[in-house]
Amino acid sequence: MKFVCVCGARPNFMKIAPIVDALKRVNGAETTLIHTGQHYDERMSHLFFEDLGIPRPDLNLAVGSGSQAVQTAETMKRFEPVCIEHQPDWIIVVGDVNSTLACTLVGVKLGLRVAHVEAGLRSFDRSMPEEINRLLTDAVSDMLFVTERSGVENLEKEGVASSRVHFVGNVMIDTLLRSRERAAKSQVLDQLGLRTKNYAVVTLHRPSNVDHHESFCSILDALEQIAGDMPVVFPIHPRSRKNLEEMGLADRVAKAPGIRLVEPLGYLDFLRLTADAALVLTDSGGIQEETTILSVPCLTLRDNTERPVTISHGTNRLTGNSTRRIMSAYREVRANPPVSDTMPELWDGHAAERIVGILTGAA
Ligand code: UD1
Repeated sequence: MKFVCVCGARPNFMKIAPIVDALKRVNGAETTLIHTGQHYDERMSHLFFEDLGIPRPDLNLAVGSGSQAVQTAETMKRFEPVCIEHQPDWIIVVGDVNSTLACTLVGVKLGLRVAHVEAGLRSFDRSMPEEINRLLTDAVSDMLFVTERSGVENLEKEGVASSRVHFVGNVMIDTLLRSRERAAKSQVLDQLGLRTKNYAVVTLHRPSNVDHHESFCSILDALEQIAGDMPVVFPIHPRSRKNLEEMGLADRVAKAPGIRLVEPLGYLDFLRLTADAALVLTDSGGIQEETTILSVPCLTLRDNTERPVTISHGTNRLTGNSTRRIMSAYREVRANPPVSDTMPELWDGHAAERIVGILTGAA
């Protein structure tokens, strides 16, 4: 059987790694790994292949940055000849980034079968490009692999046939569980002069938080207050750095006592940093899941989440981006830190094996 596995942007790498690994163990499975090149910086891409032990991609489409339309269209243009050449039995796409949707559209229009891993998640906020990517990818993929029960319910409500839907658990957690020991050896705390459970970690990249001066400032006000209590480490995404500079806020952050702006970190360093943090403030999807498993309090600086299990079972709270709401949640979490006592169902480190078992059985 021939599989084409697709990855493009940072969170995709953690999701595709255990799938590629599980496919390697199947007799007669031929796997081609395609990197679309949506993320291309050393620290946003290459470092992850080393940390995760994923083989180098067989092909990098080098799509790079662009508007939503340009990036999606360019990926489609460059992925089509790959599909025509390889004629895979399955194309496997993960997550909700532009590469996910672009490669799905190409595959189904060529009459090839597409499997979407991390299907069914819905924020019900169509202003997010990821929500559009999720809806459209799920609408046309042949097989939908779901991480949490809410995803199965969402797909049912959308009228998706249950034969296409498989609740298998979370491949990102497969990677986390198998990387914890190696991450524990990371020297990142010493390098940054931090003490265990005595600092906060921040990540921000959503347009709703970092594309508008007012929302970015509102978040910075909160970070400055938190930095009065404990160091705040902020591995900054390139788009957020660019915006800080363009908005004339870079100097303010550089001079803020207690805020440490650092380059984006590799997977193992970031996992160590998160696992030992007193709390995390983020607008990422995956970090809400990782903090749930690590039992680290997480404030999500958004008004919604497509991953409600991280609230019902985990340590996640939604705060939006107003200073007042962030600080009020911060004080609550400091006084009464949430813990994850029951882990989400099937987040047990074996999701990729289940996926590969189903796909090879469906040959
Ligand atoms: C993308 C995903 C988002 C995911 C995030 C993780 C979409 C719509 N968004 O957002 O769901 O959570 O990745 O990081 O697919 N840039 C660089 N170097 C890089 C990559 C990006 O400098 O290697 C800068 C460029 O200025 C680029 C900007 O970041 O224009 C945005 O990159 P893009 O891939 O469009 O979206 P992300 O914000 O990274």
